[in-house]
Amino acid sequence: MDMSINLFLYLFLSVFTFLLLRATAAAHLRRRKNRLPPGTLGLPFIGETLQLISAYKTENPEPFIDDRVSKYGNIFTTHVFGEPTVFSADPETNRFILQNEGRLFESSYPGSIQNLLGRHSLLLMRGTLHKRMHSLTMSFANSSILKDHLLADIDRLVRLNLDSWTGRVFLMEEAKKITFNLTVKQLMSFDPCEWTENLMKEYMLVIEGFFTIPLPVFSSTYRKAIQARRKVAEALGLVVRERRKEREGGERKNDMLEALFEGDGGVGGGGFSDEEIVDFMLALLVAGYDTTSTIMTLAVKFLTETPHALSHLKEEHVGIRLRKGEVESLRWEDYKSMPFTQCVVNETLRIANIISGVFRRAMTDINIKGYTIPKGWKVFASFRAVHLDHEHFKDARSFDPWRWQSNAGSATSPNVFTPFGGGPRRCPGYELARVELSVFLHHLVTRFSWAPAEPDKLVFFPTTRMLKRYPIIIQRRSLFDPCKE
Ligand code: HEM
Repeated sequence: MDMSINLFLYLFLSVFTFLLLRATAAAHLRRRKNRLPPGTLGLPFIGETLQLISAYKTENPEPFIDDRVSKYGNIFTTHVFGEPTVFSADPETNRFILQNEGRLFESSYPGSIQNLLGRHSLLLMRGTLHKRMHSLTMSFANSSILKDHLLADIDRLVRLNLDSWTGRVFLMEEAKKITFNLTVKQLMSFDPCEWTENLMKEYMLVIEGFFTIPLPVFSSTYRKAIQARRKVAEALGLVVRERRKEREGGERKNDMLEALFEGDGGVGGGGFSDEEIVDFMLALLVAGYDTTSTIMTLAVKFLTETPHALSHLKEEHVGIRLRKGEVESLRWEDYKSMPFTQCVVNETLRIANIISGVFRRAMTDINIKGYTIPKGWKVFASFRAVHLDHEHFKDARSFDPWRWQSNAGSATSPNVFTPFGGGPRRCPGYELARVELSVFLHHLVTRFSWAPAEPDKLVFFPTTRMLKRYPIIIQRRSLFDPCKE
């Protein structure tokens, strides 16, 4: 009974909101007929959401954007996930949107996602607090930290994970374990153990909850995610309390948690509260874990499908490994002597588009390229559309790492390659992600050969992922013991 009243109320409110938005959009369209970007609002209530979802559930979602760009141009109006949205496939407009964060546009997440993130998450922060916390995050993932100690942790955790591989491996899962363990280490100095394994299980349920759009209210996945978030927050809260006690006894660690204890940007003035710290840590896990593990998996997929790129990459890494011997860890100089690997990293980021673009909300009426984006409207700056545009990248839809050897891979302006976004919200983990991927590829290609265990499919909705978690059959090889080849 309760459920049916809820359902009725929900439907009533949804229809009412939709009609209101539609009426507002229609009024805008009438008033500013020549100034809104061209396009269509699609069907009543659902707009063009179903077309978008069905395109992104296939291996080739491009027609959704291609069709509209060829009909309306690089900036067009659509209606997705319950709101009229201006969609930009134009690099200059994307840059304008990103650079004007906090002035003309603000980041915007649905309420269901905000609940999972927690109100003190970096992704939801605004203004000066955001600025300070963004640079604090950067200070824990920048090149000097990577060089001084993170690279050694990455190297060790990647090896540890690869040591356990036998026979058939779900690459996506192993990559997730690596990135999760690494983030936990970076945040609070824990090495992989039963506690981190349990935390990861709960945490994966939280992640599932992020992708239950568009109707999270009815989804049991979403309800489980909220419960799991509570458990993760409790577990992290315990660690925070424990560490506060240790600090009273004079103990200090070199990790992100320590930096948060020392920070003085809390909402109530003074230091951060436990809740603020927990929300902050949870958001870092969210932002860094799924993205980096997916990029690791997709790099391997693209390389497997492009054998001459794989053998070029192997040559580079075998050279490094033969110089260092079998067991010595990678050092910063080694990372800096992987030019072709950096081409592979760029090309994987360009073609995989883990974050296909970002949503923002217009804070005021905004004039751009002869159009007006009305105040309150959503905009979507599509990185994917630019990265896969033949105008900006020759033969844009094929995996060609060599393109990065000449002239940064792109024919036109520097705005065209933005896998990590830009402006004040530019990904603070951009260097960390590159190092993680490079170290992972190093150990993978010098220690294993592999082949896909069965056909798998790359899809892009609700997230970019391999449907079967990319199972591969692996064989150990040793550069130093030919009998193991
Ligand atoms: C291949 C891996 C990654 C990709 C493609 C990626 C991409 C992005 C993008 C596009 C944004 C901008 C979002 C926006 O403008 O709204 C972003 C933000 C963010 N990323 Fe990453 N990221 C990756 C890895 C990481 C890692 C390893 C970390 C860990 C430190 C991280 C932490 C963050 C955080 C905290 C934000 C929010 C920044 C803010 O709102 O100020 N990311 N990421």
